[in-house]
Amino acid sequence: MAPKGGGDSDFVVVANRLPVDQERLPDGTVNWKRSPGGLVTALEPLLRKRRGAWIGWPGVVDDDVAQQDAPIAQDDLQLYPVRLSAADVAQYYEGFSNATLWPLYHDVIVKPAYHREWWERYVDVNRRFAEAASRAAAQGGTVWVQDYQLQLVPKMLRELRPDLTIGFFLHIPFPPVELFMQLPWRTEIIEGLLGADLVGFHLAGGAQNFLILSRRLVGVETSRGAVGVRSRFGEVQLDDRKVRVGAFPISIDSSELDRAGRDRNIRRRAREIRAELGNPRKILLGVDRLDYTKGIDVRLKAFNELLDEGRAKRDDTVLVQLATPSRERVESYQILRNDIERQVGHINGEYAEVGHPVVHYLHRPVPRDELVAYFVASDVMLVTPLRDGMNLVAKEYVACRGDLGGALVLSEFTGAAAELRQAYQVNPHDLEGVKDAIEAALTQSDEEGRRRMRALRRQVLAHDVDRWARAFLDALADGRPNGSD
Ligand code: ADP
Ligand code: F6P
Repeated sequence: MAPKGGGDSDFVVVANRLPVDQERLPDGTVNWKRSPGGLVTALEPLLRKRRGAWIGWPGVVDDDVAQQDAPIAQDDLQLYPVRLSAADVAQYYEGFSNATLWPLYHDVIVKPAYHREWWERYVDVNRRFAEAASRAAAQGGTVWVQDYQLQLVPKMLRELRPDLTIGFFLHIPFPPVELFMQLPWRTEIIEGLLGADLVGFHLAGGAQNFLILSRRLVGVETSRGAVGVRSRFGEVQLDDRKVRVGAFPISIDSSELDRAGRDRNIRRRAREIRAELGNPRKILLGVDRLDYTKGIDVRLKAFNELLDEGRAKRDDTVLVQLATPSRERVESYQILRNDIERQVGHINGEYAEVGHPVVHYLHRPVPRDELVAYFVASDVMLVTPLRDGMNLVAKEYVACRGDLGGALVLSEFTGAAAELRQAYQVNPHDLEGVKDAIEAALTQSDEEGRRRMRALRRQVLAHDVDRWARAFLDALADGRPNGSD
């Protein structure tokens, strides 16, 4: 029997991670620090405004997963921790989420691993998230489930709480049908997502893939008013209800970053950064989680060859790569880190002088204001993923450049490329093309740079994260085809 509305929250976000990670200090006290990734960047400011509840993992291993903690009040947020054991982390998070689904959904850049015990753990942990949501949500409330780690939650939650309105948004690409069909549990995943009232993707292509897979694997009728010419929505007809499917390209808090990019202290810090780097004529910048999808190796190889060929000058050009540690116990991430650090060492070995590296590499997150100062200080932003659902870094860079300076080199294989047409777009598999684009960005005239940046900023400032959330939540609330445009 379905329990009555367990909690008092009318609006609940369920995501693998809380917006903050718990850190246990040596003296036994607990500290909270911002957790990594674009999902948190996008949702945190928004949920604060709505005074919602957030259900997620606090980022540490716990022995007692059965314990149900009271919500933690943090400013305007209610945080409900879901505890994960060492085996949960190994099999649900590192295993099925990040060594099966993540590579499968990112064009199998590395080979996905399929293990039955990982899948069983994924089912089990998804059930615990669904139960936590069921406890927190008020009768008739709205629950918004996020991302690939929790694709079974919509169906599980609907079974527990048919009174709720349930949305689901996928923050990473949804793969082509031929790739998705590899997954031994493909039908269960589609059925899990169909538990939602509205399923959202960044791009129309992901929504189309989902509609095709719903027909093929679950045998349901779909209508293709779908994300096409007249409407942004498709529909899946189930026995007793409809599921709507649409494209909602996520964004950032553009006006906040625009303001930060103009801030006097941040601009002073940007000048300091340039001086600390030896006042080079040109600064190239990369900012990413250290992930094999991000094409960090591509940009390093391109930069190395530009130096080899004398098209970039070792004495007046530097590359700064800020890389947040990520998923460090997953083997493919360890291999990637070794590879990147070897490349950095190689380039510096060839081209640096003592005290003057040509590649500056930081393997750590930097504070927000410092990051904005790096954006403002740099001449060329390098965003070269082999595949990326959206890539918020590209939008953040543009939002910070109210001075109309800088240039964006952007992979075609990011969701952002659909919106940021005036970037120097590249195919990251075409190294000569990447080199040409970097050279063009390094040598653009001021006038050309301003023209491009003005157009990019028009897009990013008009399409911010509030607009994204409103489009999704309005569509979820009223079922009318009024998504983002
Ligand atoms: P993903 O969600 O795959 O990590 P996105 O580009 O969409 O990729 O989002 C990454 C977020 O993390 C952005 O808000 C970005 O500013 C932030 N970020 C990435 N690398 C760093 C870093 N080294 N220091 C601080 N913040 C970072
Ligand atoms: O959207 C991409 C995403 O995977 C989020 O789901 C995730 O929270 C973030 O990047 C960071 O990854 P992780 O939580 O594995 O550190």
